[in-house]
Amino acid sequence: MTGTQGAKPMPDGADGADEVFIEVDGVEKVFEVRKKTGFLKRERRQVRAVDSLSFTVARGEMVGYIGPNGAGKSTTIKMLTGILTPSGGRLRVAGIDPSRERTRLAHRIGVVFGQRTTLWWDLPLIDSYRLMHRMYRIPDARYAENLDRLVELLSLASLLDVPVRQLSLGQRMRGDIVAALLHDPDVLYLDEPTIGLDVISKARVRDFLRELNSERGTTVLLTTHDLQDIEQLCSRVMVIDHGRLMYDGPLAGLHEAGESERTLVVDLERELPPIDAGPSARVVKVEGPRQWLAFPASESAAPLVARIAAEYPLADLSVREPDIEAVIAKMYADRATA
Ligand SMILES: Nc1ncnc2c1ncn2[C@@H]1O[C@H](COP(=O)(O)OP(=O)(O)OP(=O)(O)O)[C@@H](O)[C@H]1O
Ligand SMILES: [Mg+2]
Repeated sequence: MTGTQGAKPMPDGADGADEVFIEVDGVEKVFEVRKKTGFLKRERRQVRAVDSLSFTVARGEMVGYIGPNGAGKSTTIKMLTGILTPSGGRLRVAGIDPSRERTRLAHRIGVVFGQRTTLWWDLPLIDSYRLMHRMYRIPDARYAENLDRLVELLSLASLLDVPVRQLSLGQRMRGDIVAALLHDPDVLYLDEPTIGLDVISKARVRDFLRELNSERGTTVLLTTHDLQDIEQLCSRVMVIDHGRLMYDGPLAGLHEAGESERTLVVDLERELPPIDAGPSARVVKVEGPRQWLAFPASESAAPLVARIAAEYPLADLSVREPDIEAVIAKMYADRATA
Protein backbone atom coordinates (compact mmCIF):
# COMPACT_ATOMS: atom_id res chain seq x y z
CA MET A 1 0.00 0.00 0.00
CA THR A 2 1.33 3.39 -0.93
CA GLY A 3 -1.37 5.16 1.03
CA THR A 4 -1.70 7.88 -1.59
CA GLN A 5 -4.92 6.73 -3.18
CA GLY A 6 -7.24 8.11 -0.54
CA ALA A 7 -9.28 6.19 1.98
CA LYS A 8 -11.21 4.02 -0.43
CA PRO A 9 -9.69 0.59 -1.02
CA MET A 10 -8.93 -0.19 -4.65
CA PRO A 11 -11.22 -2.77 -6.20
CA ASP A 12 -9.48 -6.10 -6.01
CA GLY A 13 -10.83 -7.27 -9.33
CA ALA A 14 -13.61 -9.27 -7.74
CA ASP A 15 -17.01 -8.81 -9.30
CA GLY A 16 -19.19 -6.48 -7.36
CA ALA A 17 -16.51 -4.43 -5.66
CA ASP A 18 -17.86 -0.91 -5.12
CA GLU A 19 -21.21 -2.01 -6.49
CA VAL A 20 -24.10 -0.13 -4.91
CA PHE A 21 -26.07 -2.69 -2.98
CA ILE A 22 -28.49 -0.64 -0.91
CA GLU A 23 -29.96 2.48 -2.43
CA VAL A 24 -32.10 4.89 -0.43
CA ASP A 25 -33.22 7.97 -2.31
CA GLY A 26 -35.39 10.66 -0.74
CA VAL A 27 -37.25 8.12 1.36
CA GLU A 28 -40.03 9.19 3.73
CA LYS A 29 -42.15 7.35 6.22
CA VAL A 30 -45.13 9.03 7.80
CA PHE A 31 -47.21 7.24 10.42
CA GLU A 32 -50.79 8.27 11.10
CA VAL A 33 -51.38 8.07 14.82
CA ARG A 34 -54.61 8.69 16.64
CA LYS A 35 -54.29 10.23 20.02
CA LYS A 36 -57.00 10.28 22.63
CA THR A 37 -57.57 13.90 23.57
CA GLY A 38 -60.67 13.58 25.69
CA PHE A 39 -63.89 11.60 26.18
CA LEU A 40 -64.73 10.10 22.74
CA LYS A 41 -62.37 12.58 21.22
CA ARG A 42 -59.44 11.52 19.14
CA GLU A 43 -57.00 13.63 17.25
CA ARG A 44 -55.22 12.43 14.14
CA ARG A 45 -51.59 13.26 14.09
CA GLN A 46 -48.77 12.49 11.70
CA VAL A 47 -45.38 11.26 12.81
CA ARG A 48 -42.67 11.75 10.23
CA ALA A 49 -40.39 8.89 11.30
CA VAL A 50 -38.11 9.10 8.25
CA ASP A 51 -37.67 12.33 6.35
CA SER A 52 -36.03 12.71 2.90
CA LEU A 53 -33.43 10.11 3.69
CA SER A 54 -30.78 9.34 1.07
CA PHE A 55 -27.72 7.11 1.21
CA THR A 56 -26.10 4.20 -0.59
CA VAL A 57 -24.22 1.21 0.77
CA ALA A 58 -21.76 -0.69 -1.42
CA ARG A 59 -21.57 -4.46 -1.49
CA GLY A 60 -19.35 -5.76 1.31
CA GLU A 61 -19.51 -2.59 3.42
CA MET A 62 -20.14 -2.73 7.14
CA VAL A 63 -21.95 0.44 8.15
CA GLY A 64 -23.04 1.63 11.58
CA TYR A 65 -26.48 3.24 11.74
CA ILE A 66 -26.91 5.21 14.91
CA GLY A 67 -29.04 7.89 16.49
CA PRO A 68 -31.08 8.61 19.61
CA ASN A 69 -34.29 6.79 20.59
CA GLY A 70 -37.08 7.40 18.13
CA ALA A 71 -34.68 8.68 15.44
CA GLY A 72 -36.09 6.38 12.77
CA LYS A 73 -33.47 3.60 12.69
CA SER A 74 -35.80 0.63 13.10
CA THR A 75 -38.28 2.21 10.71
CA THR A 76 -35.51 2.44 8.09
CA ILE A 77 -34.56 -1.19 8.61
CA LYS A 78 -38.18 -2.29 8.38
CA MET A 79 -38.48 -0.47 5.05
CA LEU A 80 -35.26 -2.10 3.83
CA THR A 81 -36.73 -5.53 4.60
CA GLY A 82 -40.11 -4.73 3.05
CA ILE A 83 -42.02 -5.00 6.35
CA LEU A 84 -42.99 -1.34 5.99
CA THR A 85 -43.79 0.52 2.76
CA PRO A 86 -42.24 3.98 2.40
CA SER A 87 -44.62 6.92 2.11
CA GLY A 88 -42.35 8.40 -0.54
CA GLY A 89 -39.00 8.12 -2.26
CA ARG A 90 -37.17 5.19 -3.77
CA LEU A 91 -35.61 2.12 -2.17
CA ARG A 92 -33.61 -0.69 -3.73
CA VAL A 93 -31.80 -3.59 -2.09
CA ALA A 94 -29.88 -5.84 -4.49
CA GLY A 95 -31.88 -4.15 -7.24
CA ILE A 96 -35.16 -5.22 -5.62
CA ASP A 97 -37.91 -2.90 -4.41
CA PRO A 98 -38.37 -4.34 -0.88
CA SER A 99 -42.06 -3.66 -0.30
CA ARG A 100 -43.10 -4.82 -3.79
CA GLU A 101 -41.05 -8.01 -3.83
CA ARG A 102 -40.66 -8.86 -0.21
CA THR A 103 -40.52 -12.62 -0.70
CA ARG A 104 -37.88 -12.47 -3.43
CA LEU A 105 -35.85 -10.10 -1.27
CA ALA A 106 -36.18 -12.38 1.76
CA HIS A 107 -33.81 -14.83 0.11
CA ARG A 108 -31.12 -12.16 -0.15
CA ILE A 109 -31.35 -10.60 3.33
CA GLY A 110 -31.02 -11.64 6.95
CA VAL A 111 -32.42 -9.65 9.86
CA VAL A 112 -31.76 -9.72 13.58
CA PHE A 113 -33.94 -7.58 15.83
CA GLY A 114 -32.24 -7.61 19.22
CA GLN A 115 -35.47 -6.66 20.95
CA ARG A 116 -37.50 -9.46 19.43
CA THR A 117 -36.72 -13.03 18.43
CA THR A 118 -37.56 -14.61 15.10
CA LEU A 119 -37.25 -18.04 16.70
CA TRP A 120 -40.17 -20.18 17.81
CA TRP A 121 -40.40 -19.60 21.53
CA ASP A 122 -41.56 -23.04 22.68
CA LEU A 123 -39.52 -25.14 20.27
CA PRO A 124 -35.97 -26.36 20.70
CA LEU A 125 -33.54 -24.15 18.80
CA ILE A 126 -32.84 -26.81 16.18
CA ASP A 127 -36.54 -27.01 15.26
CA SER A 128 -36.59 -23.33 14.37
CA TYR A 129 -33.66 -23.94 12.06
CA ARG A 130 -35.40 -26.93 10.47
CA LEU A 131 -38.45 -24.77 9.83
CA MET A 132 -36.27 -22.13 8.19
CA HIS A 133 -34.59 -24.79 6.10
CA ARG A 134 -38.00 -25.51 4.60
CA MET A 135 -39.36 -21.96 4.53
CA TYR A 136 -36.38 -20.68 2.60
CA ARG A 137 -36.06 -23.89 0.55
CA ILE A 138 -32.37 -24.08 1.38
CA PRO A 139 -30.74 -27.01 -0.46
CA ASP A 140 -30.03 -29.81 2.04
CA ALA A 141 -26.27 -29.86 1.62
CA ARG A 142 -25.99 -26.12 1.97
CA TYR A 143 -28.23 -26.08 5.01
CA ALA A 144 -26.17 -28.79 6.72
CA GLU A 145 -22.91 -27.05 5.92
CA ASN A 146 -24.11 -23.61 7.06
CA LEU A 147 -25.68 -24.97 10.22
CA ASP A 148 -22.46 -26.77 11.20
CA ARG A 149 -20.30 -23.77 10.51
CA LEU A 150 -22.56 -21.23 12.26
CA VAL A 151 -23.25 -23.42 15.28
CA GLU A 152 -19.54 -23.97 15.73
CA LEU A 153 -18.61 -20.29 15.25
CA LEU A 154 -21.24 -19.16 17.73
CA SER A 155 -20.72 -22.08 20.14
CA LEU A 156 -24.31 -23.23 20.12
CA ALA A 157 -23.84 -27.01 19.81
CA SER A 158 -24.87 -27.80 23.38
CA LEU A 159 -27.97 -25.60 23.14
CA LEU A 160 -29.63 -26.95 20.00
CA ASP A 161 -32.11 -29.07 21.91
CA VAL A 162 -33.04 -26.40 24.42
CA PRO A 163 -36.38 -24.58 23.97
CA VAL A 164 -35.79 -20.96 23.02
CA ARG A 165 -37.63 -19.64 26.07
CA GLN A 166 -35.06 -21.33 28.31
CA LEU A 167 -32.09 -19.63 26.64
CA SER A 168 -30.33 -16.67 28.21
CA LEU A 169 -30.48 -13.40 26.30
CA GLY A 170 -26.96 -13.82 24.90
CA GLN A 171 -27.61 -17.43 23.89
CA ARG A 172 -30.87 -16.46 22.23
CA MET A 173 -29.19 -13.61 20.35
CA ARG A 174 -26.57 -16.00 18.97
CA GLY A 175 -29.40 -18.33 18.05
CA ASP A 176 -31.10 -15.51 16.18
CA ILE A 177 -27.91 -14.66 14.30
CA VAL A 178 -27.60 -18.26 13.10
CA ALA A 179 -31.24 -18.17 11.98
CA ALA A 180 -30.62 -14.99 9.99
CA LEU A 181 -27.68 -16.51 8.13
CA LEU A 182 -28.73 -20.08 7.33
CA HIS A 183 -29.80 -19.10 3.80
CA ASP A 184 -26.52 -17.28 2.98
CA PRO A 185 -27.95 -13.76 2.66
CA ASP A 186 -25.90 -11.08 0.89
CA VAL A 187 -26.88 -8.47 3.42
CA LEU A 188 -27.45 -8.65 7.14
CA TYR A 189 -29.44 -6.01 9.01
CA LEU A 190 -28.73 -5.97 12.71
CA ASP A 191 -30.99 -3.87 14.93
CA GLU A 192 -29.25 -3.72 18.33
CA PRO A 193 -27.70 -7.20 18.24
CA THR A 194 -25.64 -6.64 21.39
CA ILE A 195 -28.37 -5.12 23.56
CA GLY A 196 -28.26 -6.58 27.04
CA LEU A 197 -25.28 -8.82 26.32
CA ASP A 198 -22.40 -9.21 28.75
CA VAL A 199 -18.88 -8.24 27.77
CA ILE A 200 -17.86 -11.73 26.67
CA SER A 201 -20.98 -12.34 24.60
CA LYS A 202 -20.57 -8.95 22.96
CA ALA A 203 -16.97 -9.74 22.04
CA ARG A 204 -18.06 -13.08 20.61
CA VAL A 205 -20.78 -11.54 18.47
CA ARG A 206 -18.42 -8.82 17.26
CA ASP A 207 -15.69 -11.32 16.35
CA PHE A 208 -18.22 -13.34 14.46
CA LEU A 209 -19.56 -10.35 12.50
CA ARG A 210 -16.06 -9.21 11.60
CA GLU A 211 -15.26 -12.64 10.25
CA LEU A 212 -18.54 -12.92 8.36
CA ASN A 213 -17.91 -9.58 6.69
CA SER A 214 -14.28 -10.20 5.79
CA GLU A 215 -14.57 -13.83 4.73
CA ARG A 216 -17.97 -13.95 3.08
CA GLY A 217 -18.17 -10.31 2.03
CA THR A 218 -21.59 -10.01 3.64
CA THR A 219 -22.86 -6.43 3.61
CA VAL A 220 -23.81 -5.39 7.14
CA LEU A 221 -26.00 -2.55 8.36
CA LEU A 222 -25.64 -2.31 12.13
CA THR A 223 -27.88 -0.34 14.46
CA THR A 224 -26.69 -0.03 18.01
CA HIS A 225 -26.49 2.25 21.02
CA ASP A 226 -23.10 0.81 21.90
CA LEU A 227 -20.39 2.98 20.40
CA GLN A 228 -17.89 0.17 20.93
CA ASP A 229 -19.79 -2.00 18.45
CA ILE A 230 -19.25 0.70 15.86
CA GLU A 231 -15.65 1.39 16.82
CA GLN A 232 -14.71 -2.24 16.55
CA LEU A 233 -16.64 -3.08 13.42
CA CYS A 234 -17.53 -0.17 11.21
CA SER A 235 -15.27 2.12 9.25
CA ARG A 236 -18.31 4.15 8.27
CA VAL A 237 -21.12 5.44 10.42
CA MET A 238 -24.40 7.16 9.58
CA VAL A 239 -26.17 9.23 12.20
CA ILE A 240 -29.89 9.82 11.97
CA ASP A 241 -32.06 12.06 14.11
CA HIS A 242 -35.71 13.03 13.62
CA GLY A 243 -35.66 10.84 10.52
CA ARG A 244 -32.91 12.82 8.83
CA LEU A 245 -29.36 11.87 8.04
CA MET A 246 -27.11 14.14 10.10
CA TYR A 247 -23.74 12.60 9.39
CA ASP A 248 -22.24 10.02 7.05
CA GLY A 249 -18.53 9.28 7.29
CA PRO A 250 -15.80 7.77 9.44
CA LEU A 251 -16.35 7.45 13.18
CA ALA A 252 -13.36 9.69 13.93
CA GLY A 253 -15.03 12.44 11.92
CA LEU A 254 -18.14 12.07 14.05
CA HIS A 255 -16.10 12.69 17.16
CA GLU A 256 -14.68 15.81 15.56
CA ALA A 257 -18.08 16.97 14.37
CA GLY A 258 -19.40 16.51 17.88
CA GLU A 259 -16.20 17.70 19.54
CA SER A 260 -16.81 14.86 21.92
CA GLU A 261 -14.73 14.18 24.97
CA ARG A 262 -13.30 11.05 26.52
CA THR A 263 -12.84 10.75 30.23
CA LEU A 264 -9.68 9.71 32.01
CA VAL A 265 -10.50 8.26 35.42
CA VAL A 266 -7.50 8.64 37.70
CA ASP A 267 -7.08 6.92 41.06
CA LEU A 268 -4.46 8.71 43.10
CA GLU A 269 -2.79 7.21 46.14
CA ARG A 270 -4.41 9.84 48.31
CA GLU A 271 -6.84 12.73 48.18
CA LEU A 272 -5.35 15.75 46.41
CA PRO A 273 -6.56 19.03 44.93
CA PRO A 274 -7.77 18.85 41.32
CA ILE A 275 -5.03 17.66 38.98
CA ASP A 276 -3.40 20.22 36.74
CA ALA A 277 -3.10 18.29 33.48
CA GLY A 278 -2.39 21.13 31.07
CA PRO A 279 -4.61 22.96 28.59
CA SER A 280 -6.27 20.03 26.81
CA ALA A 281 -7.84 18.37 29.86
CA ARG A 282 -9.95 19.56 32.74
CA VAL A 283 -11.07 17.98 35.96
CA VAL A 284 -14.84 17.45 35.87
CA LYS A 285 -15.32 15.56 39.12
CA VAL A 286 -13.39 14.68 42.29
CA GLU A 287 -14.41 11.98 44.75
CA GLY A 288 -11.82 11.21 47.43
CA PRO A 289 -8.66 10.03 45.70
CA ARG A 290 -10.51 9.51 42.39
CA GLN A 291 -10.61 12.26 39.77
CA TRP A 292 -12.34 12.43 36.37
CA LEU A 293 -10.65 14.39 33.59
CA ALA A 294 -12.33 15.23 30.29
CA PHE A 295 -10.17 15.55 27.18
CA PRO A 296 -10.96 15.75 23.43
CA ALA A 297 -11.85 12.35 21.97
CA SER A 298 -9.79 13.14 18.89
CA GLU A 299 -6.58 13.27 20.97
CA SER A 300 -4.50 10.43 22.32
CA ALA A 301 -4.63 9.81 26.05
CA ALA A 302 -0.93 8.91 26.12
CA PRO A 303 0.63 12.36 26.72
CA LEU A 304 -1.97 13.14 29.34
CA VAL A 305 -1.32 9.87 31.15
CA ALA A 306 2.46 10.41 30.95
CA ARG A 307 2.16 13.88 32.41
CA ILE A 308 -0.05 12.80 35.30
CA ALA A 309 2.11 9.74 36.02
CA ALA A 310 5.21 11.93 36.19
CA GLU A 311 3.74 14.48 38.58
CA TYR A 312 1.21 12.65 40.74
CA PRO A 313 1.19 9.51 42.93
CA LEU A 314 -0.82 7.29 40.63
CA ALA A 315 -2.57 4.10 41.81
CA ASP A 316 -4.65 3.26 38.74
CA LEU A 317 -6.36 4.76 35.73
CA SER A 318 -8.80 3.99 32.94
CA VAL A 319 -10.21 5.72 29.89
CA ARG A 320 -13.92 5.97 29.23
CA GLU A 321 -15.19 6.40 25.71
CA PRO A 322 -17.76 9.10 25.06
CA ASP A 323 -21.31 7.92 25.33
CA ILE A 324 -22.92 7.89 21.92
CA GLU A 325 -25.95 9.83 23.03
CA ALA A 326 -23.65 12.50 24.43
CA VAL A 327 -21.70 12.71 21.18
CA ILE A 328 -24.88 13.16 19.20
CA ALA A 329 -26.47 15.55 21.67
CA LYS A 330 -23.37 17.73 21.62
CA MET A 331 -23.18 17.57 17.83
CA TYR A 332 -26.71 18.95 17.57
CA ALA A 333 -26.23 21.54 20.26
CA ASP A 334 -23.19 22.81 18.37
CA ARG A 335 -25.14 22.92 15.11
CA ALA A 336 -28.03 24.75 16.70
CA THR A 337 -25.75 27.50 17.96
CA ALA A 338 -23.56 27.62 14.84
N1 LIG B 1 -45.96 1.58 13.81
C1 LIG B 1 -45.81 2.85 14.20
N2 LIG B 1 -46.85 3.66 14.33
C2 LIG B 1 -46.70 4.95 14.72
N3 LIG B 1 -45.51 5.52 14.99
C3 LIG B 1 -44.41 4.74 14.88
C4 LIG B 1 -44.49 3.37 14.49
N4 LIG B 1 -43.24 2.86 14.45
C5 LIG B 1 -42.42 3.87 14.81
N5 LIG B 1 -43.12 5.00 15.06
C6 LIG B 1 -42.54 6.31 15.45
O1 LIG B 1 -41.55 6.65 14.53
C7 LIG B 1 -40.44 7.23 15.15
C8 LIG B 1 -39.17 6.43 14.84
O2 LIG B 1 -39.24 5.15 15.48
P1 LIG B 1 -38.12 4.04 15.33
O3 LIG B 1 -38.60 2.82 15.98
O4 LIG B 1 -37.73 3.96 13.89
O5 LIG B 1 -36.92 4.68 16.15
P2 LIG B 1 -35.48 4.08 16.49
O6 LIG B 1 -34.47 5.01 15.91
O7 LIG B 1 -35.39 2.66 16.10
O8 LIG B 1 -35.43 4.24 18.08
P3 LIG B 1 -34.82 3.28 19.25
O9 LIG B 1 -33.39 3.67 19.40
O10 LIG B 1 -35.62 3.68 20.43
O11 LIG B 1 -35.02 1.86 18.83
C9 LIG B 1 -40.78 7.32 16.62
O12 LIG B 1 -41.29 8.58 16.88
C10 LIG B 1 -41.86 6.26 16.79
O13 LIG B 1 -42.72 6.58 17.82
MG1 LIG C 1 -35.18 0.86 17.15
